[in-house]
Amino acid sequence: MGFGFYLGVTLLLSVWATSKCDRVPSGVHMECRDRHFMIAIDLSFAGSEPHFEAVDRTGAYTITEQYAAECGYSLMVLPLLGHVELRASYFSCHTDNKADELFTFNFNLLVNHEGKPVTHALNKTCSPSLRWSPREVTCEVNYMEVSVRREVACVSETNKDVWNAAFKPAYSSFPSPWQVMFQKDGELLTPMNLSDARKQGYVINLTDGRLVLRTAYGQPESFSVEVNGVPVELVHATLLSRQSWLVFMVDLVVACSMHEGLFDRGYIMWETPEALYPSLDSTQISVGLNGELMMQSVAEERGYIVDNRNTTVHISIPYNADGGYRKSLVSGELYEYYILHLYVEQTSQKKDNIDTRLRFHGTLVTPLLLHPVFTENRTVLEDHTFTVYLGDVPEDVKLAAVHVNGHLTNASVHTIVKVVQPNNTHGYTLKVPFDDPVVIQQFSKENATLLYRLDIDYTLTVEPENNTFYHVASVTALTDISPPAFYGLCYESGIGFKLDHRPFDYLWEISVGTDLLTSELAAQHGYILSNDSQSLLLNVPLFTHGYQYSNVTLKGFFATFEILVRDRETSAVQSSTVKTCPFPTTELIMCSTDGRMTAVVDLSLAILSGGSPGRTSLIDNKCGPKEADGTRALFSFPVSSCGSIIKLAKEYVTYENEIFFSQKLPFKKNPVDSNHDEDGIKLQCTYPLAGLHRLFSVYKFESDTIGIGRIVHPEHFTEGSQSTTTELTTMPTTRRITRPVSLRLAYHPPAQYFKVSRFLKKLSKKGPVPS
Ligand SMILES: *[C@@H]1O[C@H](CO)[C@@H](O)[C@H](O)[C@H]1NC(C)=O
Ligand SMILES: *[C@@H]1O[C@H](CO)[C@@H](O)[C@H](O)[C@H]1NC(C)=O
Ligand SMILES: *[C@@H]1O[C@H](CO)[C@@H](O)[C@H](O)[C@H]1NC(C)=O
Ligand SMILES: *[C@@H]1O[C@H](CO)[C@@H](O)[C@H](O)[C@H]1NC(C)=O
Ligand SMILES: *[C@@H]1O[C@H](CO)[C@@H](O)[C@H](O)[C@H]1NC(C)=O
Ligand SMILES: *[C@@H]1O[C@H](CO)[C@@H](O)[C@H](O)[C@H]1NC(C)=O
Ligand SMILES: *[C@@H]1O[C@H](CO)[C@@H](O)[C@H](O)[C@H]1NC(C)=O
Ligand SMILES: *[C@@H]1O[C@H](CO)[C@@H](O)[C@H](O)[C@H]1NC(C)=O
Ligand SMILES: *[C@@H]1O[C@H](CO)[C@@H](O)[C@H](O)[C@H]1NC(C)=O
Ligand SMILES: *[C@@H]1O[C@H](CO)[C@@H](O)[C@H](O)[C@H]1NC(C)=O
Ligand SMILES: *[C@@H]1O[C@H](CO)[C@@H](O)[C@H](O)[C@H]1NC(C)=O
Repeated sequence: MGFGFYLGVTLLLSVWATSKCDRVPSGVHMECRDRHFMIAIDLSFAGSEPHFEAVDRTGAYTITEQYAAECGYSLMVLPLLGHVELRASYFSCHTDNKADELFTFNFNLLVNHEGKPVTHALNKTCSPSLRWSPREVTCEVNYMEVSVRREVACVSETNKDVWNAAFKPAYSSFPSPWQVMFQKDGELLTPMNLSDARKQGYVINLTDGRLVLRTAYGQPESFSVEVNGVPVELVHATLLSRQSWLVFMVDLVVACSMHEGLFDRGYIMWETPEALYPSLDSTQISVGLNGELMMQSVAEERGYIVDNRNTTVHISIPYNADGGYRKSLVSGELYEYYILHLYVEQTSQKKDNIDTRLRFHGTLVTPLLLHPVFTENRTVLEDHTFTVYLGDVPEDVKLAAVHVNGHLTNASVHTIVKVVQPNNTHGYTLKVPFDDPVVIQQFSKENATLLYRLDIDYTLTVEPENNTFYHVASVTALTDISPPAFYGLCYESGIGFKLDHRPFDYLWEISVGTDLLTSELAAQHGYILSNDSQSLLLNVPLFTHGYQYSNVTLKGFFATFEILVRDRETSAVQSSTVKTCPFPTTELIMCSTDGRMTAVVDLSLAILSGGSPGRTSLIDNKCGPKEADGTRALFSFPVSSCGSIIKLAKEYVTYENEIFFSQKLPFKKNPVDSNHDEDGIKLQCTYPLAGLHRLFSVYKFESDTIGIGRIVHPEHFTEGSQSTTTELTTMPTTRRITRPVSLRLAYHPPAQYFKVSRFLKKLSKKGPVPS
């Protein structure tokens, strides 16, 4: 594909008022190059429409597009470099030339500063270190220039016929000033005098030592040829003068490759014929960018390839070579192109001397190349956060906005971090937690999976044009879903459970034992249940239904409550949350499923009558407390041992025992008086008969449920009615004793007073042995 354009050689017209200042402003850079002055004006300094005037003794001349091409100036706006560049040939019209060795370029820079026109009068003097060779050719972006040493300008032998033809007009006019005769496609055109030639756009000048011809491209007198497929533009002029009887003729040929460049497999390629100026021994090529040549070794290192094939020089430069310029462009998608300001020197040697030096300036542009940005899913499931990297974002592209599932990202919850890469690209890492409200969740019950989904829409802009394009990405993450898990907390008065709702939690149900947790169940058992859209809170007061107690000592005990999570369909337990908390002991009784009665009993009243809790015992006076302090005693024994009385009701069996102050002194004042069971401190465990089926089959005490325990203090020391059998709470006792008055204790008759079937009696003997 052919391409090639030079960036706007700006047409500069000037109608400027003048207000001069003479020092070199900081936005102006002036350099001496081998064959030209290079003036670079920062765009920020130059403003929108800078103008230049070339200045010499005769006045100031505005450098317009046409004037530039005729007079040896090249003016380019290079937005990617951020400056306006003016190149002036050392032979440009208004450059002061001292013996072809010292060149001074005076010019005015006219800019608009804050609305006011300002003229900066500037100058640069250069003395090129490179010796002028017999023939110097410059193929600039807007003109061709050739200069030859005056003494070598001669008539070539091969063109004798042409010269003879030319001779006549030169000979006929008398006396003759210099005439110029162009030759096009082998034909001689009518000669013209130099002022006419100047009007036609040709500048022909004589310096101290050289003859200069300059012309814009595409003049009527120019012609094009193809040299091995490479287009070449040529201007062939013959200067004639007859002085006295001598005729001077100078042949001036300027030829430049018009190759526009090719883009091939990552290279920008430019071609020029090896022998634009034939009849020389060898040619040498040097390549560079931006008006400066580089050493061959440097060029090779940077991947430049210079190749002479089939008498054509092929120069290949990696499209993204250092010194080139890259630009992003939006056309639906993101594209980029590269611009190289190619600079080539071609020299022809004749023995050891350089005969011809040709300099070529060209601007080569790649076609539009697709530059896709990409996204990479860098999510790590364990982090529970989407991590998505947007990469290959060029330098001149900025991230303007990110929408996730249609919502603009919120910097306080989503993080976007810019990552700079060494290859002049950058990227952005976006993080969005899975549980962010914008994340779409799709759960599959069959697969027990939860799919998180994030559709990302990146809005990117190309600067400085501010053109927008979009990049979309979609990431998902699949996680196994787990049954809900409660968080348990110990309170002074019980155990609390907290569950944060997840959208898919309806797949499970929550139960306490076999009972489904509902507000009705909570009300029935005295649980405090609160449930809103965010979370469920269950507060289970101590001693309510469902607790299990362990490690009872006088100091304290452990209470355990368990919440089960069941599959809603099969009711199979999927998980459970068990929370055990320590509580201080005051007074309590527990009746375990394996038939053990454990009780901490407040005996302060008994103490009043002169006893000590350590010296108490149960009905069987061999059964004493396991532990005792100043006011309390801890008993623990199998329900049917230690002389327990078994009371059988229709649906319940109650094991009852009683606390005596001592072996000798029962915990009663007057045993004779005592026909009132109620008068002693009684310990009772009541089990539903239905749950005791094993007792009847394998004679082993094993209840399906724990028993209901009660500590019954003598009537007149208690509040409320201890004889009621309503309750069915696990632990009916807290401190019931309010005012100790006196102890009226009754002797309790032994168990055989009750009618217990032989069968049950037998069982009670087989019951667990006291530990
Ligand atoms: C021709 O050259 C002389 C001396 O170098 C210079 O003063 C003059 O301006 C030049 N004229 C043109 C048209 O280049
Ligand atoms: C060239 O510019 C310098 C300031 O940079 C100034 O001092 C000098 O006078 C100028 N020369 C001419 C010939 O304008
Ligand atoms: C150049 O030639 C034109 C006619 O072709 C003539 O009018 C003009 O005067 C000549 N100029 C000079 C300087 O001889
Ligand atoms: C060399 O150039 C000639 C003329 O353009 C062409 O016919 C020939 O194929 C070229 N050879 C190679 C190897 O490119
Ligand atoms: C961003 O998130 C914070 C915290 O969630 C919230 O307070 C704020 O309103 C959000 N801002 C926008 C623009 O959504
Ligand atoms: C730039 O470097 C990054 C990180 O090494 C890489 O992922 C990316 O593909 C590179 N881009 C280009 C255009 O070379
Ligand atoms: C469950 O998994 C099967 C097989 O992997 C798949 O075809 C199906 O779409 C999944 N169902 C859902 C709701 O994701
Ligand atoms: C870029 O364009 C957007 C809309 O296309 C506009 O809102 C914004 O202000 C522009 N920014 C600049 C710096 O021009
Ligand atoms: C993104 O990465 C996660 C974690 O490696 C993976 O499970 C998921 O399938 C990926 N998603 C996509 C759309 O690539
Ligand atoms: C709690 O509320 C959620 C919805 O807010 C409901 O799905 C759930 O069934 C409720 N749970 C109980 C135990 O009431
Ligand atoms: C109860 O006591 C037993 C034996 O001393 C011990 O192994 C266990 O950890 C205790 N339970 C709690 C909840 O501390």
